[in-house]
Amino acid sequence: MELTNITGLKGEVTIPGDKSISHRCVMFGSIAKGITEIHNFLEGADCLATIDCFRKMGIDIRQSGDTITVHGKGLHGLSAPSEILDVGNSGTTTRLISGILAGQSFDSKLSGDESLNSRPMKRIIEPLTLMGANVSSILRNGCAPLYITKGNLHGIHYESPVASAQVKSCVLLAGLYADGETSVTEPSLSRNHTELMLAEFGADISTTHDLSSTKATALLRPCKELYGRTITVPGDISSAAYFIAAGLLVPNSEILIKNTGINPTRAGILKVCEDMGADITLLNERIESGEKIADILVRTSRLHGTTVEGDIIPTLIDEIPIIAVMAACAEGTTIIRDAQELRVKETDRIETITDNLIAMGCSVLPTEDGMVIKGGEPLKGATIHTLLDHRIAMAFSIAALVADGRTKILDSHCIDVSYPGFMMHLNIFYKKQRQLHPTKTKCPFSILYILFDGYRLNLMISV
Ligand code: S3P
Repeated sequence: MELTNITGLKGEVTIPGDKSISHRCVMFGSIAKGITEIHNFLEGADCLATIDCFRKMGIDIRQSGDTITVHGKGLHGLSAPSEILDVGNSGTTTRLISGILAGQSFDSKLSGDESLNSRPMKRIIEPLTLMGANVSSILRNGCAPLYITKGNLHGIHYESPVASAQVKSCVLLAGLYADGETSVTEPSLSRNHTELMLAEFGADISTTHDLSSTKATALLRPCKELYGRTITVPGDISSAAYFIAAGLLVPNSEILIKNTGINPTRAGILKVCEDMGADITLLNERIESGEKIADILVRTSRLHGTTVEGDIIPTLIDEIPIIAVMAACAEGTTIIRDAQELRVKETDRIETITDNLIAMGCSVLPTEDGMVIKGGEPLKGATIHTLLDHRIAMAFSIAALVADGRTKILDSHCIDVSYPGFMMHLNIFYKKQRQLHPTKTKCPFSILYILFDGYRLNLMISV
């Protein structure tokens, strides 16, 4: 995919459903009694992998547009999959489903793509083993493929070394099948969708935040069943982040991003934008299905550098690629630290962000747990190596909108992992701008989608 710069993005966009919440609705709905109806479900490849896994375990899951109906069979209603569970590129599917599989009376194997199978799974194998589960890394390298066999689970208190919602959720889900209470303390609070949603499904779960430190604990008590319900998934703030950045960086822009989840454990990007001098207004704040939502109004702003560190990191971990792009365009220096988790995401994001920003002419110094970005120099078009990381592809598509010359995003089809309509949404803004300024505007990009043997290929057309 190739893009060039543009000015004057104006209009509104409704962001697709939240990825983390979409995964959880399908998982919890499958092990709940009765029907769970999910509106605004994210049809990204990761969430479709979750659906596929539960269908393989006998759950009837039907789709009509962006509404999914899960016919849950209760806590003990899953059946043995006849084949390996394919988790694709999805770390959330892998880690959360492992907690559920650890509590089953059947054996299962799960595996994903090359990136997924190189991500650390010891972080879930260790606590699950402490609970009495039998989970092993088939290649004995601490990664998937994983083999899970029947164990007798008992509740534990787990002091997690990382602030990770995937680890926390894995242990809590295994706790649904354990004797006694299960609790997880993490060094600082990571996204709490599991805690909020399990409570909505009828689980007995409570949370405490240690006021003398940053630690947070979630405690689950045994329950007999979860119960299906109707859920409307809020727009994904991690996807909204690209349009927030576009609205701030592209000259003469004003964008309204509708129905976006602003759960405080996810909304760190809004605080960073504020610290950088962004003009952002939250409108129409409300609560739906237990989650906080708002419309976000963004106007072009002169940004300045900031420091992003400490407790806020888990609340914006997936947004660091786009924060880095904003930092490259901001006056002064931005320091990102305490973000060593970036090294074990879909790619080593400290490397992929640094390499691609340098290719665009920005001065960046990678560190063990973050980076130092000297902003303010104009970006220049470049070839972006996404290494199949969806968030790198989208973050650098936004960088391309303010860079001189053409930017080529390699393997841009990886965007489908979390935001299949991303380019279409950007295109709507472009078309709108062309109507306003028919002669001045050059098309910033053009894509032709071709269906080939079930795979969607993006062909680039120069304009
Ligand atoms: C997620 C948690 C985060 C995040 C990931 C989704 C989740 O990972 O990066 O994209 O849905 O629980 P960690 O929990 O490993 O930080």
